[in-house]
Amino acid sequence: MAYDTIKTEKRGNVALITLNRPDALNALNSQLVDELIDAVQAFDADDAIGCMVLTGSEKAFAAGADIKEMQPKTYMDAYKEDLFEKANRIAEARKPIIAAVGGYALGGGCELAMICDFILAADTAKFGQPEISLGVMPGIGGSQRLTRFVGKSKSMEMCLTGRMMDAEEAERSGLVSRIIPAADLVEEAVKTAEKIAGMSRPVAALTKEAVNRSYETTLSEGLRFERRVFHSLFAMEDQKEGMAAFIDKRKPTFKHK
Ligand code: CAA
Repeated sequence: MAYDTIKTEKRGNVALITLNRPDALNALNSQLVDELIDAVQAFDADDAIGCMVLTGSEKAFAAGADIKEMQPKTYMDAYKEDLFEKANRIAEARKPIIAAVGGYALGGGCELAMICDFILAADTAKFGQPEISLGVMPGIGGSQRLTRFVGKSKSMEMCLTGRMMDAEEAERSGLVSRIIPAADLVEEAVKTAEKIAGMSRPVAALTKEAVNRSYETTLSEGLRFERRVFHSLFAMEDQKEGMAAFIDKRKPTFKHK
């Protein structure tokens, strides 16, 4: 599929997806969402790829869902198309996805970054859920995911006032894993993705699934899930190889890559 609103590129075993609607600060219109889902699903199915990086421009990762497209919608339009439900398909990817966020990540942009598995932020990044100023509220998971990342108080304040968080505050609050100088953001994200892509693929996918499970279940069920999956890894050659390589003081060569 040829894309108009995103750019895709393979860098070795890493897929780089760049949101590309510069005139609209990468606002998420329906075409962009469809193209993004298509690209994520294609890379998820591509054996040559082990990890994905999703990024935007220096000015904006994404300034939210497309306000111009949404403005005329009626309740029945939104309900019938189950507006933004399909964004969940990005979260269903089995391969890890890193969000490399520079500039604005607002509304749907912040929500899209949180759908990814972790966020690397440029020192220029600004996160916010300003929907309330538009007479709406977050609709792609902001009220739920942001609360899990930063806690009730900060999430409530951000969702109720639209206040933005800078990169420092976002790191302090647990929304982002690391801050990187803006000029190095994409290279550092790709380097991080290469490291993940070099691990055993099924182990990375199962690790992602286990961490995500912690959001969906109780601690005791999560611990049981983790243990059962951990046990199953002993059936894989990659466990034998990984542990043998440590003992032999060499780098492992994983079979499932
Ligand atoms: N949707 C559609 N177009 C957008 C947009 C959006 N979310 N954000 C920016 N744009 C467009 C602007 O309309 C403008 O287009 P024109 O040149 O045709 O007027 C262009 O991008 C550049 O934007 P600005 O001139 O506003 O740039 P700025 O540097 O002055 O301001 C900004 C940057 C503070 C990010 C400002 O653009 C802004 O506030 N954008 C909207 C942010 C927002 O409210 N996001 C939430 C959207 S609702 C949502 O996401 C719902 C949900 O949860 C699902």
